[in-house]
Amino acid sequence: MIVKTDYLVIGTGIAGLSFALKAAKTGEVAILAKHEAYDTNTNLAQGGIAAVMGDDDLVEYHVKDTLDSGQGLSHLDIVKAVVEAGPTMIEQLNDLGVPFTTRNGREDLPELGQEGGHSRRRIIHAKDMTGQAVQKTLGERAKENQAISFFEYHQALDLILAEGDLTDSRPRAVGAWVLDVKSSTLKAFMAKTIVLATGGSGKVYLYTTNPDGATGDGLAMGWRCGVKVANLEFVQFHPTCLYHPQVKNFLISEAVRGEGGRLIDNEGRFIMSGHPQGDLACRDVVALTIDANMKKSGAEHVYLDITHRDPSFIKDRFPKIYQTCFRLGIDITKTPIPVVPAAHYQCGGLMVDINGQTNINNLYAIGEVACTGLHGANRLASNSLLEALVMADRAAKDSSDKLSAIASPPITNLEPWTIGRLGTAPAEAVLISQSWDEIRRFMWNYVGLVRSDQRLMMAFKRLELVKSEIDDFFRNFEVDADLVEVRNIAAAADLIICSAALRKESRGLHYSLSWPNRDDLNFARDTILINHSPDIRPTPH
Ligand code: SIN
Repeated sequence: MIVKTDYLVIGTGIAGLSFALKAAKTGEVAILAKHEAYDTNTNLAQGGIAAVMGDDDLVEYHVKDTLDSGQGLSHLDIVKAVVEAGPTMIEQLNDLGVPFTTRNGREDLPELGQEGGHSRRRIIHAKDMTGQAVQKTLGERAKENQAISFFEYHQALDLILAEGDLTDSRPRAVGAWVLDVKSSTLKAFMAKTIVLATGGSGKVYLYTTNPDGATGDGLAMGWRCGVKVANLEFVQFHPTCLYHPQVKNFLISEAVRGEGGRLIDNEGRFIMSGHPQGDLACRDVVALTIDANMKKSGAEHVYLDITHRDPSFIKDRFPKIYQTCFRLGIDITKTPIPVVPAAHYQCGGLMVDINGQTNINNLYAIGEVACTGLHGANRLASNSLLEALVMADRAAKDSSDKLSAIASPPITNLEPWTIGRLGTAPAEAVLISQSWDEIRRFMWNYVGLVRSDQRLMMAFKRLELVKSEIDDFFRNFEVDADLVEVRNIAAAADLIICSAALRKESRGLHYSLSWPNRDDLNFARDTILINHSPDIRPTPH
């Protein structure tokens, strides 16, 4: 079956939905979710959206904080573009009806939260459920828009490319092969513009704050068809994921530290007191300090203590965290919260220009899947939802301007998706699911917060074996949605390991025992990987 549209958007988080709403003014949009449309990383985001809206704040301050956090690798042009657009993005979300928390009963005055690495209070939020509020509002607006068609339980498998033409010989993206998960059928979605907004790859790691769907699908699809990738060694570990045997991926927002929460060890000593910014130091510093503390004491977690604040303030400011912990037997108004670092955000990704365009014509990448150059070696807290909004806006403008000049995608001569046979995976598939578990374990142990050349080599060797098992399986058996994710996870892990092995220094989120110092002479640059033999051939023109 073939579905034709103007814009194909893969992913229904903040980036995909914002793009869809803007692109729908100039054409038909099909938007794909591999699960339910709200099942995204955006929906879990607690903290908020950084934007310069305080009386004591300036664009220059936010630019400086972002550059400081990026440790020499953030690109000034994109940092300025994103930061400058912040207040407009918030205004647009207000107009769409996102219920941000306000102050002094004034609808026009957002309450400003504080997070690590920010020199001013500038986090616009909806209590501790900012992502959920944004997801719900954008999702509702998109669902009522006649030009936008939702396809839930539709999992993109690979992109479809066509040959370039006389004016531009580069291949161009014309669609995607998609698995209709409920009917196990293959569909081709053909479009003039394709947008990858698939989020990150947190599920590469054993412990993560991400939802199950964060399996690096867009990253893997883009890489396979020849999109350049950058800076994938910079995986951000959030310092404070709840430590609990039943609930593995619940975040305790950095905003808790912004409101006075302090990290303590199991003897009640303040962990961050040796750092000038204390508990609000940048995430790379806080996560590494916690990790070192746990290794030294042998403890399985540390604690985040907010019990000194008034209980009614805590319940009002952090209702989700309070209620979730309470249900698990932890009253955060009375007891410190057990926390550990966990994989949270992929700072690198598919390389894009300032409008979100990749090196493949008509193919854009926005949100966490992309590397714009904003985050550098360490993302500043709450800059990611902002980046997603700004890049969706820029990509929508850029692609809308070009739309009328783009030829309709070919719908004949399509080479079918031959990477695997879709169907019911046989019992042997259990072994491949175990591969996923294995990848997540060795990525955590060898490619986590503390790396070394030797650890990276061990991870690389183990991954090679797992990858060949996955390839064999795809050749010999029918595959399903889960196995498609395992293949993508393996591709994402491979790119993270290779990028980490190339950076022979320590900087930001990449810390290597083999190269413990920062080396500006040789490494004040992005790590770029190029796939010289993409495994998807363009279809005939
Ligand atoms: C948080 O609430 O701590 C997460 C915010 C972010 O990752 O930017």
